[in-house]
Amino acid sequence: MCQPAAVVARGVVGTATEQAWVNDGPTSIWETHARQWQWIGSPLRPARADQLAFEQAVRDGFGPVPRPLHALLLGVTPEIAALAWPAGSELLALDRSLAMIRSVWPGHPADGRHAACSDWNRLPLASSTRDVVMGDGSLAMLAHPLPARAVCAEIARVLVPDGLLILRAYCLPARQDPPEQVIEDLFAGRIRNFDSVRLRLAMALQPDPAHGIVLADLWSYWHARITDAAALARRCGWPPERIRTIDAYRALQTRYHFPTHEDMHALLATCFTVERVHVHDYELGERCPVFVARRRP
Ligand SMILES: C[S@@+](CC[C@H](N)C(=O)[O-])C[C@H]1O[C@@H](n2cnc3c(N)ncnc32)[C@H](O)[C@@H]1O
Repeated sequence: MCQPAAVVARGVVGTATEQAWVNDGPTSIWETHARQWQWIGSPLRPARADQLAFEQAVRDGFGPVPRPLHALLLGVTPEIAALAWPAGSELLALDRSLAMIRSVWPGHPADGRHAACSDWNRLPLASSTRDVVMGDGSLAMLAHPLPARAVCAEIARVLVPDGLLILRAYCLPARQDPPEQVIEDLFAGRIRNFDSVRLRLAMALQPDPAHGIVLADLWSYWHARITDAAALARRCGWPPERIRTIDAYRALQTRYHFPTHEDMHALLATCFTVERVHVHDYELGERCPVFVARRRP
């Protein structure tokens, strides 16, 4: 949870911390996530291919040698902070978790990058002031369709009239796996990394995008089936710390929401024109498309 004026960013209108915080449970998932960030990988963090897609979208959208941009990041994804930004650009990262800002945001090594504590439902920015808004999995934190639509409208408000939204989203596959299939594939060695197991299970257990998946339910499903995580780690050749990251979900009422690809298109169509969708060939890449959408004037 943020304390007033805990993190200050230039260019923020009003007090970025005067928002209402959502209580994610006894300890916010993001506090725990922040502590174990180094054990989380693709597809829950962007791969190099995603970074290249974000950079290409900027070049396609603003020209091969883009002018300095005013950019907004929804969250504190370090891989987005580290993009090859046009010289002189200013990147503001907004996240409601102070723990994530403190632990995950790369800090201020380069001029023009800052982070502040704020809720995306009420962005502390004047209208039409950002050339580009980016996010990694950000909309998965919001129920579909109405809360996600409200944040899309807020993004559109702060973008300049032809500004770009570049967003990696988590979308359900065309044919949904049953959760038992994920466990079977795990024991058969058909899943290359643990974060793919987590994402597939979360999607498989979600009844629908409006309800989402309660992380405590994912934890209970996992622990009912995996009684010896150390043995699983040895069998799969994964560090046990990586598997233990799932324990952050214990008792957490936080929900992830996974729309279909069609739901995402319908959501973005409320304020944007989708210009391109990048799909990569890393494990579960087809479930993690990068949408490039332009704000409709
Ligand atoms: C960008 S998302 C996804 C990050 C990563 N790709 C993953 O799936 O674990 C995670 C971040 O969103 C932040 N967050 C979620 N809902 C938010 C909201 N309504 N306003 C501001 N930050 C929010 C959380 O605090 C967290 O740091």
